[in-house]
Amino acid sequence: MPRDIHRIDTQLASFRHDVLSGLSRPRKALPPRWLYDDRGCELFEEITGLPEYYPTRTETAILADNAEEIAEFCGDDAVMLEYGAGAGIKTRIVIEALPSLRLYVPIDIAADFLQLTAERLAKRFPGLRTLPIAGDFTDDLHLPSSIPTTNRFGFFPGSTIGNLDPDEAASFLVRLRRHVGANGRCIIGVDLKKDVGTLIDAYDDSQGVTAAFNLNLLQRINRELGGTFTPSRFRHHAVWNEREGAIEMHLESMVPQTVAVAGRPFRFQTGETIHTESSRKYSVASFTALAAGTGWRCDRVWMDRERKFAVFGLV
Ligand code: AVI
Repeated sequence: MPRDIHRIDTQLASFRHDVLSGLSRPRKALPPRWLYDDRGCELFEEITGLPEYYPTRTETAILADNAEEIAEFCGDDAVMLEYGAGAGIKTRIVIEALPSLRLYVPIDIAADFLQLTAERLAKRFPGLRTLPIAGDFTDDLHLPSSIPTTNRFGFFPGSTIGNLDPDEAASFLVRLRRHVGANGRCIIGVDLKKDVGTLIDAYDDSQGVTAAFNLNLLQRINRELGGTFTPSRFRHHAVWNEREGAIEMHLESMVPQTVAVAGRPFRFQTGETIHTESSRKYSVASFTALAAGTGWRCDRVWMDRERKFAVFGLV
């Protein structure tokens, strides 16, 4: 069987498994990674440009304003491992600041996207050596031995670590240490705790793009798993969970209803929700402690003036 078909089949099987088990739980919940089909990726891209969604532009400005110091932190002849290949502006800022970069290794589950990333960067930085790796970095992933083992640093922007639960975040940081080695470094973007109003606005924007992003998951279930969701009978709901220190996205049923997925019925009461994503917010101290528990020392923290977002340099 061609590898791509195998990949799509296993992906579909795990989507089916996650949806059927997630909807069977007393508190219905789905892993956030399923939000990102093609339409979901487009909508997320749109979110990053919304006036209320401060993280992307804030982090980009932090990287641009501190590019020189960040380059110094990464050192000469470095090997950059990027988790969740962005190829966007943030990647370019870092690569531009590192003229001696030896190798750029973007790691992403989406093979096509990865290829596009590599091509775009090759155009922008003709002399840059790139080694794209298609794989799931939230799983165990072995790096090819052709990657030089010295001067490695991990780059994980976007506050994507906030979408991992604390155990997953800790395992990711442990894996990152293994990838870059004992003398390796990492640069990681982390969204910080702030007033709840700002957070709710960022995750429930006035143009309804985040709502569309969340509701798109129901359309994906209908299309890929033969679901019978009527998206207009659900609404997007963003709520701050103080105990978890996370903003949560939910899909709330507006009527009592039964929905079938892959032939199995699921009952919803009015007001019952499917929890689709948590976006954890840290303080500098709480993220430093999380990192310390996984063998990392916080060497540098770059922040915007309002301290909305932090870029950590860990060693
Ligand atoms: C990808 N991730 C960091 C985003 C976040 O802010 O947690 C996903 C997102 N969900 C709603 N808006 C953006």
